Amino acid sequence: MLVALKACSTTACFDTLRPYAVGCCASGLYEARLAARHMGGHVAVYSPAYRESELEELLEFAHHIDFNSMPQWLRYRERCRTHPRAQRGELQFGLRINPCYSTGHTPLYDPCVPGSRLGIPAEQMKGADLNGISGLHIHTLCEQGAQELTDTFRAFEKQFGSLLASPHIRYLNLGGGHWITKPDYDREALVALVREIRSCYDVEVYLEPGEAWFIHTGVLRARVLDVFDSLGYRHAILDISASAHMPDTLEMPYRPDVYAIGSSGSGEPAVVMPGESYIAAGEPGVLPHTYRLGAPTCLAGDVIGDYSFESPLEVGDELVFDDMTHYTIVKTTHFNGVPHPDIVMQRREGVTTVARRFSYEDFESRLG
Ligand SMILES: Cc1ncc(COP(=O)(O)O)c(C=O)c1O
Repeated sequence: MLVALKACSTTACFDTLRPYAVGCCASGLYEARLAARHMGGHVAVYSPAYRESELEELLEFAHHIDFNSMPQWLRYRERCRTHPRAQRGELQFGLRINPCYSTGHTPLYDPCVPGSRLGIPAEQMKGADLNGISGLHIHTLCEQGAQELTDTFRAFEKQFGSLLASPHIRYLNLGGGHWITKPDYDREALVALVREIRSCYDVEVYLEPGEAWFIHTGVLRARVLDVFDSLGYRHAILDISASAHMPDTLEMPYRPDVYAIGSSGSGEPAVVMPGESYIAAGEPGVLPHTYRLGAPTCLAGDVIGDYSFESPLEVGDELVFDDMTHYTIVKTTHFNGVPHPDIVMQRREGVTTVARRFSYEDFESRLG
């Protein structure tokens, strides 16, 4: 089991993850360097394309390097195969396959959409020279269960079973998108499938979830800066931005659960502070006071969503947005120079430490 750093690369949480993971999956050189330096263990890298200089560096410390296309593999093949680490068996190379089998519902997150650039389809593998390849990689799922994984593996097996059975293939990477930590995920079915693949094909099986490691582990706390009425809406402007701090609310789009901090609790976000109680916000119009929660930026669409609250919002009130670790912290930007929230770690006993505090100098230095 690998941690996909694309979902969260905050090193302050690596000590917590390390006992459960054999290493990390990286999307390129920088994540791979972070993995080697801060997590240790196995470093698996896959990128849709590598720069030559990037590959040269990866050859020195990565354990699996997976290629996205035959031209990229053929371009670097001699360099890869003849590298001393590859000769000593410390480094293996794989190909990402596109089994062209969609189980997802959101085209933006579906690598099997028609015209996808991610992975090699079956017809391009026929007769290909695979000398030097010892791994196969598929990633097609997004927030899905063991049944979708099993169905995907069966579709892959139909097309590539004989290749998987070849003695040259030593590992199969089943990518990410497995919602393993959801209470209703069928973990026994996952274990049974992995055991079956290992025994039928004599390969090491890797899974590289990102999101599953971080579901329900973090919140984003925001303050109300202003409240006013305009064009039939009651607006609350917050000190955070959908675009800069939670872009999945615009891209996916994703509607986070929101809590107001109040005297009598009616719900609980992922991270609670000692002595605080939380009142869950509702869909617009459900509770007495509805607001459009927006950002202090110039982007007209920088709106997190419409929510209703038990009590009117006031300037200075704090709101808590749930499930804001995965694909949120890593995607933040300094758009409009809106100040970044601190990244704070909380221990089970409630003790907090600031892992990162952002300043004006971070804004200035990042943009050159
Ligand atoms: C190749 C690859 N592996 C792993 C992941 C992690 O997926 P998730 O966070 O959905 O588990 C992704 C996500 O895009 C990916 O593209």
